[in-house]
Amino acid sequence: MTPPRRNVEIKARDADPAGTLARALSLGATDEGVLEQRDTYFARARGRLKLREEPEGATLIAYARPDESEARTSAYRLAAISDPAAVKEALDAALGTLVVVEKRRHLLLYENVRIHLDDVEALGAFVELEAVARPDSDLAREHTLIAHLVEQLGLGERVAQSYSDLLQNTPEALLQAADAAMRNAYAAYSDFKVGAALRTPTGAIHVGANVENAAYPQGQCAEASAIGAMVTAGDTAITAVAVVAEKLDICPPCGGCRQRLKEFAAPDTPVYLGRPGGPVQTTSLAELLPLAFDEESLA
Ligand code: THU
Repeated sequence: MTPPRRNVEIKARDADPAGTLARALSLGATDEGVLEQRDTYFARARGRLKLREEPEGATLIAYARPDESEARTSAYRLAAISDPAAVKEALDAALGTLVVVEKRRHLLLYENVRIHLDDVEALGAFVELEAVARPDSDLAREHTLIAHLVEQLGLGERVAQSYSDLLQNTPEALLQAADAAMRNAYAAYSDFKVGAALRTPTGAIHVGANVENAAYPQGQCAEASAIGAMVTAGDTAITAVAVVAEKLDICPPCGGCRQRLKEFAAPDTPVYLGRPGGPVQTTSLAELLPLAFDEESLA
């Protein structure tokens, strides 16, 4: 397999896009014009997968990068797509669509650094710096260039997450993820399907459904499945929870699951009970499990 391409990149909120543009131009960056981009993100097993549609053509982009706020390395693969509508339908059918990100990108070039002045629908203005690496680079030069531009442009509040994660950072998106998981529940004995979704500090969402068993006590709740998926993926902190049941408008987590969630969530962690598009009851872990037994109790 050919190795992925790499770049070193950083993203920040941009409180003054006109000022950033002026500073980039005065540093000698060249103006490469404005791109209208629509990125459709698909569910996937590893990294991120999106189909980028621009007036000039479409590209399938698979990439992996840590959710870090300082300069980080992204490894990516690009594939030109001649029939984006058909590819989008095929990927949606096989994997499912997570979110669509639409943006207006003003592109500038400074040496091998792409400067993106992005105006993202529903999110606002951002600046991104991407130093595209040569295949044999040790990335030192790329990091130096990024550090130089960060200082010269006066980059604002750093953003660790992708635009897709930021757009999904709502109770509704978490309920949608729980609802989708609920559809796969194995509730052969109770016929009571439940789905749970957990958000982590990076914005990642992990989901689970209940899994029953002919030996009834061996059944597992949706929350327990979601916690298993989260820990398996390498995350151990929950910042928000959603629970959806097929046959109950508001499904309170069982006592055992309140304790399971407590292991990974702070007392003020919000818990959304309801359905996507429906009435939602927002509670918190402390409300669901007062006087919880935890690590401190053991100490
Ligand atoms: N169930 C959950 O998955 N989560 C809860 O918090 C409440 C109950 C499941 C367990 C069982 O498969 C079915 O709902 C009926 O109790």
